[in-house]
Amino acid sequence: MPSPLPAADAADADLGRRSVRSVWHPCTPLEQLRAAAPRAIVSGQGVWLLDAQGRRILDAISSWWVNLFGHAQPDIGAAITAQMQRVEHVMLAGLTHEPVVRLSERLAERTGLGHAQYASDGACANEIALKLSAHYWRNLGKARKSRFIALGSSYHGETLGALGVTDVPLFRTSYAPLLRPAATVPTPELRGLADDAARQAAIDHACAALDDYLRREAARTAALIVEPLVQCAAGFVFHPPQYLARVRELCTRHDVHLVADEIAVGMGRTGTFGACEQAGVTPDFLCLGKGLTGGFLPLSVVLCTDRVQQAFEHADPARSFLHSHSYTGNALACAAALATLDLLDEPRLAANRALAQRLDRLFEPLHRHPRLGHARRLGMIWAWDVIDAPADFPRRFGLEALARGALLRPIGSTLYFMPPYVIDEPAAEHLLQATLQALQATLHGRPGGYADAALA
Ligand SMILES: Cc1ncc(COP(=O)(O)O)c(C=O)c1O
Repeated sequence: MPSPLPAADAADADLGRRSVRSVWHPCTPLEQLRAAAPRAIVSGQGVWLLDAQGRRILDAISSWWVNLFGHAQPDIGAAITAQMQRVEHVMLAGLTHEPVVRLSERLAERTGLGHAQYASDGACANEIALKLSAHYWRNLGKARKSRFIALGSSYHGETLGALGVTDVPLFRTSYAPLLRPAATVPTPELRGLADDAARQAAIDHACAALDDYLRREAARTAALIVEPLVQCAAGFVFHPPQYLARVRELCTRHDVHLVADEIAVGMGRTGTFGACEQAGVTPDFLCLGKGLTGGFLPLSVVLCTDRVQQAFEHADPARSFLHSHSYTGNALACAAALATLDLLDEPRLAANRALAQRLDRLFEPLHRHPRLGHARRLGMIWAWDVIDAPADFPRRFGLEALARGALLRPIGSTLYFMPPYVIDEPAAEHLLQATLQALQATLHGRPGGYADAALA
């Protein structure tokens, strides 16, 4: 007999049931929602979330990779409150305000790219970059350069334009009639390649494929969009900085823009402020989002080179960039981003790198786990592939982990941690134990576990 759900779930269950009726929850088929209603969260503090029953849950994935400095971080909250007392929002057509100017200047100092254009989500930032790129070529009299290239297994968001450069078969087929799909070129497949020669051959092969495509299609291609260093949604597929540097070289040689989608990997996640830094690369467009406000408010940005901006210096409206959002450059979100940048200074990045090495040692039992392979880490991203994972692994594992006080959502058979940067060793130890126990329950089918009850 499976044991019942943990007792005293009444308040949770009620909110959960109301949520199922009234809210459309992302990435959750309705049938799954009905089997296990969403857990109601009432507060957060640091890496911890508190549910309606007072149970603590460690947010090991930074609530979809947005939360950098923990929940309810006081400095970011105070910056928003202070801004709220001045002005919460004004439109940017014909008006401006201090937080948006200061944020744009600071991002330009930090990245070497200026001319910030703001949206709310990652997908919208990527669409802005793609539109800007194609419009740039049009303004130069090269309107044929309007197509895009993406890497195999890319993920750039789920609006229609972003889906066009996203290479996830489920999305591509489900929305095929609505999309203008990009060409894809292979990423270097380094998984399982231990020796340097084989790794180098895989990188050479991927670069040759891109070169070959660009030789034929550069005249019709506006931009290549990449997720620098880590393709997170693809299951944490890593490529080395050397590959990124060669991609930059090829784009320059063939006169095609490079769009760096750092929505997931920017803001210190890979150990440096931006992932492109590790390859010594400056893209033509850089997209940031997610952690930009420390997880407080939706804000994304596209930064570009002076050269791109100069192509839009025309009186003719058709040669101006045509793109606007009502909330572009929202003052509260910009204030939150400025406070986040204050926290994410060089000493903090160095401290993060040292912390990640210590946690790496602590996570040793996962690196040696008989059912986990291909252990990998970059900055504050850890990933492992589950060997012979059952088909419903992500869902069952997620429920088992939640029952043990850890928020984890494997991607397919890839288990990963992307914790807030304020995780400490005791919290990491909790995460380790919850993960080991959830693995045991999911892979060895310990009867009576949480998942059995939830699935019953
Ligand atoms: C690399 C990358 N780009 C874009 C997005 C889309 O961002 P958003 O969900 O804010 O639209 C994501 C989301 O996970 C992402 O990982």
